[in-house]
Amino acid sequence: MKKIIAKTYDDVSKVGADMLADVIRNKPRAIIGLATGSTPIGMYKKLVEYHQNKTLDFSQVTAFNLDEYYPILNSNPQSYHYFMWEHLFAHINMKAEMINLPNGQCEDPQAECAAYEKKIAQMGGIDVQVLGIGNNGHIGFNEPASHLALATHLTSLSKSTIEANARFFSSAAEVPTQALTMGMGTIMQAKSIILLITGSNKAAVAKEIFRGQVTTEIPASLLHLHQNVTVLLDEAAAALL
Ligand code: F6R
Repeated sequence: MKKIIAKTYDDVSKVGADMLADVIRNKPRAIIGLATGSTPIGMYKKLVEYHQNKTLDFSQVTAFNLDEYYPILNSNPQSYHYFMWEHLFAHINMKAEMINLPNGQCEDPQAECAAYEKKIAQMGGIDVQVLGIGNNGHIGFNEPASHLALATHLTSLSKSTIEANARFFSSAAEVPTQALTMGMGTIMQAKSIILLITGSNKAAVAKEIFRGQVTTEIPASLLHLHQNVTVLLDEAAAALL
């Protein structure tokens, strides 16, 4: 696990965007895995800038997002579908048919998850997966548990995740209690992984990760078993390392 500490959130956003841009420049048909949440917003802003100043072309890139609430309409401003269009897809030249998110409006979540997993495999797997991390160590919506799921699946959100995500809704009661998420196996099969950890509220979980122990109670700790993970932290998140 490679660790890069940058000074500020903006610095982390730039390093992350540059890493992703490098993958795309070296492989125009790259398959990229994306995350939502507050953390990658600055990185998406940078990627939009690179596209606008004509140094980055997304026309052949395929994207798969990690997760989506379930059930939720794509048109709901809290959906991850809406988030991704707002922060990235509406501003770059990625083809709509190459944009993939688990479908929060599907009727059969099991079939949706199986199809999502199959499509990632058929495309040859993810070249670079961007991750954020929950305060409880979740990645995607793989919550701390005694057992973790391998493939894309329907999951229940933990109380701490519902509370953390309530900031985007009018109240915690509005937060969907379930989500569709890539599994730990889906994430671990990505050829490379960039984990973004920013802000002082993530310092404790960052410390846990770098203790080096692997436990399903901190799903992100499983990333120690992957050969090509870069963790990008700002100084606030790295304060306890
Ligand atoms: C989002 C996702 C989540 C977030 C995590 C951190 O697609 O998969 O694991 O990365 O909850 O969220 P923020 O960045 O809002 O702190």
